[in-house]
Amino acid sequence: MQKVLIIDFGSQYTQLIARRVRQLRVYCEIHPNTISIARVIEFAPAAIILSGGPSSVYEQDAPTTDPKILDMQVPILGLCYGQHLLTQHFGGKVVPSQHREYGRAQAIRQKTDSKAGKALLEAFNDGESFEVWMSHGDRTEALPADFVAIASTDSTPYAAIAHRTQPIMGLQFHPEVSHTPRGLEIIEAFLFNVCDLAPIWTMGAFLTTQIEAIRQRVGENERVICGLSGGVDSSVVAALLARALGDRVACIFVDNGLVRRGETAQVCELFEHAFHVPLIVADARERFLKALAGVSDPEKKRKIIGAEFINVFEAEAKRIGNARYLAQGTLYPDVIESVSAKGGPSVTIKSHHNVGGLPERMNLELIEPLRELFKDEVRLLGAELGLPTHLCQRQPFPGPGLAVRILGPITAEKLEVVRHADAIINDEIRAANLYEKLWQSFAVLLPVRSVGVMGDGRTYEEAIAVRAVDSVDGMTADWARIPYEVLGRISNRIINEVHGVNRVVYDISSKPPATIEWE
Ligand code: XMP
Repeated sequence: MQKVLIIDFGSQYTQLIARRVRQLRVYCEIHPNTISIARVIEFAPAAIILSGGPSSVYEQDAPTTDPKILDMQVPILGLCYGQHLLTQHFGGKVVPSQHREYGRAQAIRQKTDSKAGKALLEAFNDGESFEVWMSHGDRTEALPADFVAIASTDSTPYAAIAHRTQPIMGLQFHPEVSHTPRGLEIIEAFLFNVCDLAPIWTMGAFLTTQIEAIRQRVGENERVICGLSGGVDSSVVAALLARALGDRVACIFVDNGLVRRGETAQVCELFEHAFHVPLIVADARERFLKALAGVSDPEKKRKIIGAEFINVFEAEAKRIGNARYLAQGTLYPDVIESVSAKGGPSVTIKSHHNVGGLPERMNLELIEPLRELFKDEVRLLGAELGLPTHLCQRQPFPGPGLAVRILGPITAEKLEVVRHADAIINDEIRAANLYEKLWQSFAVLLPVRSVGVMGDGRTYEEAIAVRAVDSVDGMTADWARIPYEVLGRISNRIINEVHGVNRVVYDISSKPPATIEWE
């Protein structure tokens, strides 16, 4: 298979580069800049992309890469910091810019005799200008011998450069971000014109190889256990395993009472009836409520839920004979060993809950068929497997469920209130055609009561916060600019239909400094 190697120097856009390459149906992987030459040779890239990064190449501890990688005779595209690295490696000079350049700029395509340069900017005529997104504090001041400028801006003469005879090139701007409107065409030209790759990475092809690999790995008499959560990832894993192994996969759904309206019934309907997967539904609602009684601290809630989940899951799993594997919906962003811009371990903001810890305790081997995929690719794979669209497009839902959307202690009544409000938000957001555009939209029950007036009477009731955010990966998020009319309908319906709520507020905080969930 043709593969592109993306070397990460700590840019906030590295994952976006990978997304773009895959969007163009070419397989790629991100590796840290410390990757060894031996590993690169083993990986056998058809092309290499060097990411941007927050450092300066002339600093003493600047991240670099084994120089042999840059001399491998494989096409290379350096982006921003990547261009600086190429400049330095091939004998040019990088200096601090007089002003940090951040934002939109107009680049002009230069006439060139460089074959690679022509191929890279094939979409533009000589002298044509195109909008690009700049974000840099350094610039190439002197080109290495044999390199030429293929595009420039008013303040950056070397906005794009290329070797005269070899397929080595750099861009000072960021073609991977949507603020460079024709950036995708440039990446496309790099892959298909310069590197001569073919767009053959499809979900159909991925599915066939995964099914084959799972069949090879799991013996005739062995079984795989799969935890279903109702979310996209675990559903896709279960459907994939069912396709590969038939009834040698056994699914467990822990109904902890913290799920959304109708979720348990939907899971049963789909997996038992449509996919014919052996499914155990563990009714643990009482048990979770009891364990959570009186607990307000968010971290305590998360720990209790994680521990209870493992206990219930383990007890159910023990009843399944010949279980040797546990399937998990780990995604690519979780396994990428990215370079942290700050370096060092980060603090725990929230203890995220998944089935971590289970495999060792139960002596199970892990199967993670989605390890190479991004979230939107998982949705495509789900569609390929025949999962219904409404499931494939489902917004993310946290492992601890509605428990982290009720501030303060959890009771059965409060769960019902937040579940009902959540269902209304879901209805209205879908009706307004916003559901798939938003990263998440949901209800949070606040630990306050306020005075209201309904009919002729005074009320003293609870408040619901509506949370809706735009995000690409959940790491950062912006509060969504939902039309007032939609917010108005949501508010009206919640106050009219949800017993015990007389006030609705809209959360207008972004992440950071807030987080998406309230706990
Ligand atoms: P925060 O609240 O940290 O959330 O900004 C970022 C994204 O992660 C989801 N989330 C979780 N997902 N287990 C999960 O699988 C968890 O414990 C968990 N907590 C938060 C959250 O919904 C958002 O999409």
